[in-house]
Amino acid sequence: MTAADADAPAFSASCRLAGAAATDAFARALAPRLGAGDTLLLGGPIGAGKTAFARALIEARGVAEDVPSPTFTLVQTYHAEGLEIWHCDLYRVTRPDDVLELGLDEAFDDALCLVEWPDRLGDLAPADALRLDFALVGGDPDARELTASGPARWSWVGTLMAEGPAHG
Ligand SMILES: Nc1ncnc2c1ncn2[C@@H]1O[C@H](COP(=O)(O)OP(=O)(O)OP(=O)(O)O)[C@@H](O)[C@H]1O
Ligand SMILES: [Mg+2]
Repeated sequence: MTAADADAPAFSASCRLAGAAATDAFARALAPRLGAGDTLLLGGPIGAGKTAFARALIEARGVAEDVPSPTFTLVQTYHAEGLEIWHCDLYRVTRPDDVLELGLDEAFDDALCLVEWPDRLGDLAPADALRLDFALVGGDPDARELTASGPARWSWVGTLMAEGPAHG
């Protein structure tokens, strides 16, 4: 096995999210299968739909309160029927130490963590996280291309994408 093979994700799948409703549907389908210790790294440019996805997922876990973007607070936490959920936007984070000060390293073990701008984590990103990259699609302002990748334990996400609540 070469070094490049070792770095390649064991699982990778893509699908088209035709509109915001499809992104919501995918988040709702994923939500019941996630738990404490799971981390989702939400990649993609400004306006790609990272917060829209996180909001739908958090609401699907029974959180009735508002789910604002953590743009300024960096972290919003929720208690959802025994599960702690951390929703983070690390855009403004410049040093890995800031991540430690937020307590994210412990949250990775104890909570379900949804992390926007995960490149800011550097080496602190959990190795067993699921990565979801949202890409804008030229010519269609409502469409997104979603690529999911990660270790083999997440391969069921590819099945979910192929089955298609995300195609709506
Ligand atoms: N298919 C889609 N999926 C998700 N959002 C969509 C889609 N089509 C259009 N949108 C719109 O795109 C916007 C996405 O905004 P959102 O705040 O979720 O982006 P973001 O990736 O979190 O950006 P930021 O990096 O600024 O935090 C929303 O206004 C949403 O309604
Ligand atoms: Mg956002």
